Amino acid sequence: MSVSVVLKNSCSTTGEGPHWDDASQSLLYVDIIAGDVHRWNSATGEDQKLHMQGGEATLIVPSSTGGYIVSVGSTLGHLDWDTNTYTKFAEVDEGKNNRFNDGKCDPKGRLWAGTMGREVRPAEPEMGAGSLYTLDKQKKVVSHLSGLNISNGLAWTEDNRTMFFIDSLPGNIFAYDYDLEHGTINTGSKRVVMNFGDGKTNHHGLPDGMTIDTEGKLWVACYSKGKIIRVDPETGKVLKEVSVPNASRTTSCCFGGKNLDELYITCARSGVTDEEFKTTESLAGSVFKVTGLGVKGKPAYVFQA
Ligand code: BGC
Ligand code: CA
Repeated sequence: MSVSVVLKNSCSTTGEGPHWDDASQSLLYVDIIAGDVHRWNSATGEDQKLHMQGGEATLIVPSSTGGYIVSVGSTLGHLDWDTNTYTKFAEVDEGKNNRFNDGKCDPKGRLWAGTMGREVRPAEPEMGAGSLYTLDKQKKVVSHLSGLNISNGLAWTEDNRTMFFIDSLPGNIFAYDYDLEHGTINTGSKRVVMNFGDGKTNHHGLPDGMTIDTEGKLWVACYSKGKIIRVDPETGKVLKEVSVPNASRTTSCCFGGKNLDELYITCARSGVTDEEFKTTESLAGSVFKVTGLGVKGKPAYVFQA
């Protein structure tokens, strides 16, 4: 196994939301507080960036009819990259000081995206302010969960009967029975896959973004611990740990590369002091790549418009 830096310090705030676009062999990701979306072409090595006006950019996924679905602050819309045009089609949590956070499409191409209260400091939002929504092809927004603290990672099992979901505070990976046909979770079926503890005394920090491999095991970013762990959702046991150097605020990961056997990892610079950035956190805000893990992911789902 080997860990390398693909893009050194490419994010100035919170590097997040990696999505491997299989069709173009590029990595999409965001720099949340900066309000930037990035597109790294793995063939040319070029990292393109667009600035979104009017708020944080927290998720970017390709749309089946071209362009991307992007969140800006508490809105969702379509981004035409070539003309840098953002067309908003939904707004949530009106009257609250909220923004979107992590989001991902389900196997039928519906977007699941959660919100959170804006933070005073990283990982210190207004508690209970967030909700989890879906956006379907009719652009209809439906709320599925409320009272969330930091709505984060999402993943589905191969049989599509289970959805995994992370609320980073107080550190839970949850599982819900999933109805793929209707795009709904059975809230009564909620169970805890793993609890990370209070975020202060545990070994894994806060669970943040997540992906799933073809063996059904979860890869979870451990915010504040500079690592990704592989978790067996059946037992809640940690099967493997992958550390990244000089960047403790690991935020998310996804599989990518021609064979989907490389793990791409984002991390945050937000919250890192200038002194730390010169020393122990010199790779904060970078994108890392892990090879030789011996596991693969599936192509990420795109938005079906
Ligand atoms: C959020 C950050 C937060 C972090 C902590 C990220 O998903 O975007 O704002 O500080 O999670 O878990
Ligand atoms: Ca996240």
